Amino acid sequence: MGAPRVCAALLSLGLSLLSSVPADAVERTAEPNTLVPADASRYVAGAFPDRIVATPAQDAARGFAVAWRSGAGIESPWLELVVAGDSPDMGVPRRIRAQTRALAAENGPARHHRADVDGLQPGTLYAYRVQGDGAWSPWMQLRTAGLPGEPLELLYFGDTQNKNASLTTRVVREATRHAPRASLVLYAGDLVSGGDGDDDNEWGEWFDATDALSGWTLTAPAPGNHEYFEAFEDTPRERRVLGRHWPLQFALPGNGIDDGAPTTYWFDHQGVRVAVLDGTSALDLGSAARQARWLDAVLASNPGRWSIVVVHQPFFSPRDGRENSALREHLLPVLRARNVDLVLQGHDHTYGRRGLDEASRAPVFVVSVAGAKQYRLSDEARATMSPVGEDTQWFQVIRIADGRLRYEARTATGRLYDAFDLVDAGPGPKRVEERTEGRIAPRDCAREATLKGRRDRCWE
Ligand SMILES: [Fe+2]
Repeated sequence: MGAPRVCAALLSLGLSLLSSVPADAVERTAEPNTLVPADASRYVAGAFPDRIVATPAQDAARGFAVAWRSGAGIESPWLELVVAGDSPDMGVPRRIRAQTRALAAENGPARHHRADVDGLQPGTLYAYRVQGDGAWSPWMQLRTAGLPGEPLELLYFGDTQNKNASLTTRVVREATRHAPRASLVLYAGDLVSGGDGDDDNEWGEWFDATDALSGWTLTAPAPGNHEYFEAFEDTPRERRVLGRHWPLQFALPGNGIDDGAPTTYWFDHQGVRVAVLDGTSALDLGSAARQARWLDAVLASNPGRWSIVVVHQPFFSPRDGRENSALREHLLPVLRARNVDLVLQGHDHTYGRRGLDEASRAPVFVVSVAGAKQYRLSDEARATMSPVGEDTQWFQVIRIADGRLRYEARTATGRLYDAFDLVDAGPGPKRVEERTEGRIAPRDCAREATLKGRRDRCWE
C-alpha cells in the first residue's frame, strides 16, 4: 500500500470513528403506524377465517370462547372441537354454532363470529377449527386451565399500540421462547392506537403480531383509552365511546359491571382470580365507584389464594403530569382490603414497579410497555419506583407453583430486567422477595428527541 492510500485509509478511519456512522447507513425518518401503504389493501375480510382469538370463560378450566372474522358471505358458522390427539384422525368433533355480527370498517364489510365452548375438562389440550366463508382455519390446539395448585405459566404485555406488525411481533415471538408453556396471556390495554381512521389495519396488524399466541393460548385483554374514541369532540357533548372492534373481536365473559360494556370482567385460571378493570370508563365515564363495588364482590368470593388485577391506566403513574386520582380514591382501598397480589398496568410507555405502603408486601404495581412508543420517566417515578426503565420494549413471564409467584420482566431481546417472588406464607398480603441476580443495568433514554423532534418522548 502506497503512502497516499495509507493516508486516505487513515483519514477514512478517523472520519468514521469521529462520526461512528457507517458509510452505508440509512438516514432515518419516523416510521408510519402500520406497514400498510395508503394505497394498499392488506386486511380485507375474505373466505378464510382470520383474527382468531380464544378467551377464557369465567371458569377457564371448563370453557373458553373464540372470536374470529370472515367475509360477509356467511352467518353463524361452525366451530369444531375435539380432544387433541396424536393421530390426524382425532375422532368425531363436537360442533358449536357461532353468533355473527356485521362490521363495516375501512377495509370493507366483514362478519365477526363468536362461539362459546363449555363442558370441558381442566388442563386438557383441545384441537379446534373455525369456519369461514367457504374455508376452514387450520386445527389449532389450546389447553384449558388446570386445577388450582397446578404449576402455572402466564405472560403479561403492556401497551402494544403502535407499529404492531413492525415492532410488536418480535416481542411476542421472544416471549413465547421464554414461556413456551404459558396457558394465559394478559394485555394491559391500548392494543392499537386507533382514532386516525386506520383502526382496521391496526387490528389486522395486532392479530398478525400476536398470531403465535391469540388462537393458541387463552387471551385476556384490558381496554385502554385508545380502544375508545372521542364522540362530539370539542363540543359540550364530548364523551368517550368504546370503539366498534372491541366487542366484536374479543369473546369476553360478560360478567363485569352492570353497564352492558364488555370491558370489565373476571375469570378463574388455575387458582388465580383475574379481574380486568376499565380505567377509561372509571376516569372519564364516572364508573370508578361502581367498578370498586364490583371488584370488591369479585375478590371477596375468590376461593383461591392468588389474585391479579389488570387495568390500563396506572394507580401510580411513572410519567409527569398524569394523576389517575379516581382509581386511587375508589379502587385502591379494595386492592388493599382484599389483598390483591399483582396490579398489571400500561399507558405510560415506560417501566416502573412499586409496592403500596411497604415495598416488602403485596400488592405489587407494575407499569410496562411492549410496543414501540416510548415516553420518559418523571423524577417522582425515579424516587418512588424501583426498578424503573425507559427506551425498551418489555414482556413479562409470571410463574406460580408451590405457594410462590415468580415474576420476570424481560426486554425485547430476552434479557432479564426485573425479577421478584411473591411468597404465600398464610393469610394476609404475600411477602416480596427481590431477585437481583442476572438483571441487566438500568436503561435510560439517551436520546435528546424523537425523529419527529419531540423532546417529551423518547421514541415514537
Ligand atoms: Fe393509554
